[in-house]
Amino acid sequence: MSTKRDRDRGVFICSECGYESAKWLGKCPECGGWNTFEESEPIGPALKFPGHLLKRPLPEVKSLSEISLEREFRIQTPILEWDRVLGGGLVPSSLVLISGDPGMGKSTLLLQVLAHLARRHTVLYISGEESDRQIRLRAERLGLAESKVLVACETSLERIIELAESYEVDILAIDSIQTIASSFLDATPGTVSQIRYCTDRLLQMAKLRNVTVIIVGHVTKEGIVAGPKALEHLVDVVLYLEGDPTHSFRLLRSVKNRYGSTNEIGVFEMKETGLHELTNPSQLLLAERPVGVPGSVVMPAVEGTRALLVEIQALVTYSSLAMPRRTTLGFDGSRASLLMAVLEKRLGLSFAQEDVFINVAGGLRLREPAADLPVCLALMSSHFDTPVSASLVAWGEVGLTGEVRAVGYGSIRLNEAVRLGFNEFVIPASTAEQMKKEFPSFEARLIGVASLREAVLRVFPDVKGAVK
Ligand SMILES: Nc1ncnc2c1ncn2[C@@H]1O[C@H](COP(=O)(O)OP(=O)(O)OP(=O)(O)O)[C@@H](O)[C@H]1O
Ligand SMILES: [Mg+2]
Repeated sequence: MSTKRDRDRGVFICSECGYESAKWLGKCPECGGWNTFEESEPIGPALKFPGHLLKRPLPEVKSLSEISLEREFRIQTPILEWDRVLGGGLVPSSLVLISGDPGMGKSTLLLQVLAHLARRHTVLYISGEESDRQIRLRAERLGLAESKVLVACETSLERIIELAESYEVDILAIDSIQTIASSFLDATPGTVSQIRYCTDRLLQMAKLRNVTVIIVGHVTKEGIVAGPKALEHLVDVVLYLEGDPTHSFRLLRSVKNRYGSTNEIGVFEMKETGLHELTNPSQLLLAERPVGVPGSVVMPAVEGTRALLVEIQALVTYSSLAMPRRTTLGFDGSRASLLMAVLEKRLGLSFAQEDVFINVAGGLRLREPAADLPVCLALMSSHFDTPVSASLVAWGEVGLTGEVRAVGYGSIRLNEAVRLGFNEFVIPASTAEQMKKEFPSFEARLIGVASLREAVLRVFPDVKGAVK
C-alpha cells in the first residue's frame, strides 16, 4: 500500500518516451535511451485532475442508437493540403499537435493556417519562443500582415488560459508546448511533467470551453516529440512536418488522427513567401532529372495514398580504400547493403573494390520496399556505365534469393507514371499480369520481371555477358 510519503515523492520519467519509474535508471527499459530519466515533480491528486477547477455539469448519457450521426462540422481553410491531412478540416474542440525538426516550417505553416481561420473565427496565437515583432516580420514576409490573428507572447499556462477565456477565442495556438509552464508545478518548462500537465489542462479547456487548440512540439534527433511520447496519446491529432532542410520539399504527415485516416499526406514547397501547396509534386521532383545519364532511375513512390515520382541516383566508382565507402541519402543504409549482397551473390556483380553512393533526389526519404528494384537498377546502371531508358520507371521488392516481389498500390503508381509521360514499366511479374487486365492498352509496355536476373536482361540487354 502506498503511504502518503510515497505519493508526495516525485517519480522519474524518461524524457524521450515518458516511461515512469520509482527509481532513477541509467537506461530506459522502454526506448533504450541512456541518461534520459528526470525527476518529475510530485503532482498531487487535485492537480492531476484539474477538471474540478472548471465547474461542469454531469455529462448527458445516451444509448448508442440515440447518438446523432449528423455530419461532423469541420473548420476548413483554403489550404487544401492541410484540410486533407486532417481528414477534411479541423474538428472543433480538438487538440492538434504539429511537430517536426527545428526550422522545418512549423511556425510558418501555423501562421498561414491561422491567418485563414481568423477571417471567420477569433484566433489567438501565443508564442513562447518569438517576440511579437518577429511574428509580425514573418507575417509581412508571408503577405499576412493584415490578418486579424491576435498575438501574445506568454509562457505561463494559467495566464494563457485566462487570455483565451477573456478574449473568448475559438482557436488557440501555442508555439511551442516546450516553452510554457504551469505555476502549479515547480518544474522548469520543457520537462516531461510540465509538458504533460500543460497539455492535459489545454485538453480540458478544449473540451469544456469549446476551443480548438493547436500546439507545436519540437522533435528530438531520434524523431519523437521531445519530452513525453505520452503527449501523443493525449492529443487528438498528431501531424509531422518533415523534409530535408537543404531542400524545399515538405511533407505534412498525419501519424495519429481520431477523426480521419492517417494515410493522407500534404505536400508543400517552402519558399520565401511561405509553404505553398504542390498540386503536381512529381513534376517538381523530376524537374532537374538528367536524362540519358548512367545511375538514374525513376520510381513511383507511394506516400499515404498518393504516388510521387522520385529519381533514385546511384554512383558506383573505383575505391582506393581498404573499406570502400557506402553512403545513402534518403534510403536505408542496411537495406542498400542487403541489395548489394543480393546483386553480388545472384548476379555476380562485385562492389568489393567500389565506393557506392545512393541518393534520393529532392530530399525525400524512401521507406517502402518498392524502392528495392529501382535501387538495384540504378546500381547496375552506374556499375555498367549504361543509362536506362528515359521513359522507364520501376518498382518492386527484392528478396534474398533475388526474386522480385509484388508491392501494393500498383494502379496508383502506374497512373502517376503515365500522367507524367513514362511508358516503360519494369515491375513485378504478378503485378504486370494484373495490370494487363486493368490497363489492356499498356500491355506491350508492362515488363513483368520475376527476378533480378530477368530485370537486368530486360533493362540492359547489351551487358548480358557481365552477369552470371
Ligand atoms: N527569408 C526567408 N526566405 C526563405 N525562406 C525562409 C526565410 N526565412 C525563413 N525561411 C524558411 O523558414 C524556415 C523556418 O521556418 P519556421 O520558423 O516556421 O520553422 P519552425 O519549424 O517553426 O522552426 P523552429 O523549430 O525554430 O521553431 C527556415 O528553415 C527557412 O527554410
Ligand atoms: Mg517555430
